[in-house]
Amino acid sequence: MAHDLFEAARGAMAFAHAPYSKFPVGAAIRADDGRIYTGANIENLSFPQGWCAEPTAIGCMIMGGGKRIVEMAVIAEKLALCPPCGGCRQKISEFASADTKIYLCDEVGVQKTMTMDELLPLSFKTDVIG
Ligand code: THU
Repeated sequence: MAHDLFEAARGAMAFAHAPYSKFPVGAAIRADDGRIYTGANIENLSFPQGWCAEPTAIGCMIMGGGKRIVEMAVIAEKLALCPPCGGCRQKISEFASADTKIYLCDEVGVQKTMTMDELLPLSFKTDVIG
């Protein structure tokens, strides 16, 4: 089942705009609507303005009508396992649950499966905002 997500992430990586780092990353989300949403990192000449593959995929999910991340795959061309960066972990957790599976992939498939809680333990949660 996770293999289709791996293939989607690998396909998405081909769309990376990473001329500065030359470090293409792809991400794929299976959302609660059953659809797969993908993303790649999109860099900018003004370096801090670029962003990661994961938020691209999250933006596609939200605009496509998906609400929650059921499972997600991440792949980087030049790193056998590419764990989402700290900022991305927070962004993913907004739409995931503690047991949501995140698949870390290499060029042949899923190499490591982690839960959201393993990736971002003791995450910020409160019900006193708003
Ligand atoms: N990158 C991602 O797309 N996701 C991550 O979780 C880690 C880093 C991108 C950002 C930048 O375009 C390149 O990888 C090098 O840091």
